[in-house]
Amino acid sequence: MIKQRTIDKVFDTIRIEEVVGDFVDLKKRGTSLIGLCPFHNEKTPSFNVSIGKGIYKCFGCGEGGHAVDFVMKHEKYSYPEAIRYLAKKYNIEVEEEEQSEEQQLVHDRRESLYIVTNWAAELFQKTLWDTDEGKAIGLSYFRERGYRDDIIKKFELGYSPESWDYLYQHAKAEGFDDEYLSNTGLIIQKEGGKTYDRFRGRVMFPIHNMTGRTLGFGGRTLKTDKKVPKYVNSPESDIYHKSAVLYGLYFAKKAISTADTCYLVEGYADVLSMHQAGIENVVASSGTSLTTEQIKLIGRFTSNVTMLYDGDAAGIKASLRGTDMLLKEGLNVKILLFPEGNDPDSYIQKHGPKSFEEYVSQNQHDFISFKTQVLLDEAGDDPIKRAGVIREIVESIALIPDPIKASLFIRNCSVKLDIEERILITELNKIKLQQSRKRPSTKSEIPEEPTESQSALINGEATPDSPPSINANDLQEKEIIRLLLQYGEQPATWLENDNYPIAVLILSSLQDIEFSHPESKKILDIYIDFVNKQDLPENRYFITHPDKKISSLAVSLLSTPYTLSPNWNDDKRQIYVKQETDNLKDAVVRAIFRMKRRKIDERIQQVREEMKQESDPDNMSILLHKYQKLKEVEKETLDFLGTVISR
Ligand code: UTP
Ligand code: MN
Repeated sequence: MIKQRTIDKVFDTIRIEEVVGDFVDLKKRGTSLIGLCPFHNEKTPSFNVSIGKGIYKCFGCGEGGHAVDFVMKHEKYSYPEAIRYLAKKYNIEVEEEEQSEEQQLVHDRRESLYIVTNWAAELFQKTLWDTDEGKAIGLSYFRERGYRDDIIKKFELGYSPESWDYLYQHAKAEGFDDEYLSNTGLIIQKEGGKTYDRFRGRVMFPIHNMTGRTLGFGGRTLKTDKKVPKYVNSPESDIYHKSAVLYGLYFAKKAISTADTCYLVEGYADVLSMHQAGIENVVASSGTSLTTEQIKLIGRFTSNVTMLYDGDAAGIKASLRGTDMLLKEGLNVKILLFPEGNDPDSYIQKHGPKSFEEYVSQNQHDFISFKTQVLLDEAGDDPIKRAGVIREIVESIALIPDPIKASLFIRNCSVKLDIEERILITELNKIKLQQSRKRPSTKSEIPEEPTESQSALINGEATPDSPPSINANDLQEKEIIRLLLQYGEQPATWLENDNYPIAVLILSSLQDIEFSHPESKKILDIYIDFVNKQDLPENRYFITHPDKKISSLAVSLLSTPYTLSPNWNDDKRQIYVKQETDNLKDAVVRAIFRMKRRKIDERIQQVREEMKQESDPDNMSILLHKYQKLKEVEKETLDFLGTVISR
């Protein structure tokens, strides 16, 4: 554990432009720096770094955050890894929190398991390259299969000899504990006390974690005997959790990010052959069905996945199975089948990398149309089966979190299935409703940044019967938070006597108002706490907030003037920003005014409703009194704001 003191020091020292500048060529543009976004492919720069705010934001892909976020995202570091990296860059000494004895023991034990496993990987490698049996059997097998030496070395492939205790004897000589050897599955201990190696007479594929440490192995037999299992794999252990590992991800992560797409294959051999052909954005599920954890791993690097499968019946089934989960995680899924009897490995070895790439680019289908076609072919002309197909397809579409994407698929499928779009939409809504009853969604339906129509709504220019998913109240609250974050510390110069900070003006004007949008409310509450202590929070406080929802709201609001209309050219962008800072008074007062009016209107509305229901004359007079009071407040608000609004 890194001490908080060190973390604070890192945050105090780092400069966003220097941190990002190590990876992105930045040019000065107005008040910020601009460059080509490293997180998506683009030809014209839309990646912005604001030195003052200490944040970066891409208007193209929406990626944004503070300097530590950038390093985490760009280098695929965990939080502590990113802090260490930055500490090193700025020559800051990293102080570690002392661990409790128990923590130390757990840590030591895991460390021992890693050491044993990585030692074994080295032993298998040495055996492959330096022993007669290894060279004659293992190495020649790999070479015959067409793998180059550099690929064999890169993936640290090895060989375990045909012996009951080759590894065990070596491990004893090294002084390794049986317990560690057995927990990692390198040896098998029978009840009678007999102990022998798990991997015997096999070529060895080490399986790495994200930082390149070996967690376990797959060992392939060289025998053609059908009774011998083709692969023997390490069992689950305290360091190897199969459901959370993808074969090849360590070697692929950079390429996946750069290409912004990931190939998903079935086997070790496929990963190797594709790398050898120069296609490095590939991982394997290693014969088991995909888990949500594995999908989330891919999702850290890209949202585009192409599944490459055998063209036989089993391959088709497999591809239909894994995919619904991918859709649910918001990934864009494509499918590609190889001619029957081929896998990516055999196809490349047969036809070469060039025609492999051609085949891939010409034969990948988006998953939904693929599934539709497969199921329709299966159903033939049977109308009942066809109805089943429709339901199944719409169920898949219902999993796609992005409603715009889903509606595009609905359109495509209506053509394919020869059914009116309207009917499919009705079906989709039914399924969505069922889903939402099953698990109440906590995710807000509203995008973080207002689109143009939404900002029109905040500004009161749109009609109230705009789509219901746009919540004007949340947008107003976010607008207030945006003003707090962007201008809170500046003095409200238009107030004649005392130049309060704008934050104080906003908070005191909204004292009687409850926010309902959860993150906006949290930020507002933090402001109130600070102001009560005669202080104001720095933006960094929110940008680096441990609650990811708060930090990303802060980042997106801090870059809002730029994002309101991403299509504007730079000149217009600057004009926009200039206008707002010129008319800060307008911006602030209007926001307060709109919010107050809305809240008061709401309450007046409420009281009116209550009055309609009320029959008791005493209660009625109380309500009437309330109503009059509210009307007065409304008038006061309007009057007050009327005097400060210049136009
Ligand atoms: P494949 O049979 O397609 O293996 O199984 P492969 O990698 O293409 O191997 P070659 O080309 O025959 O040498 C796909 C994956 O399923 C897992 C392995 O991870 C394999 O890479 N598998 C397969 C097992 O774990 N055990 C088995 O017995 C078979
Ligand atoms: Mn194969």
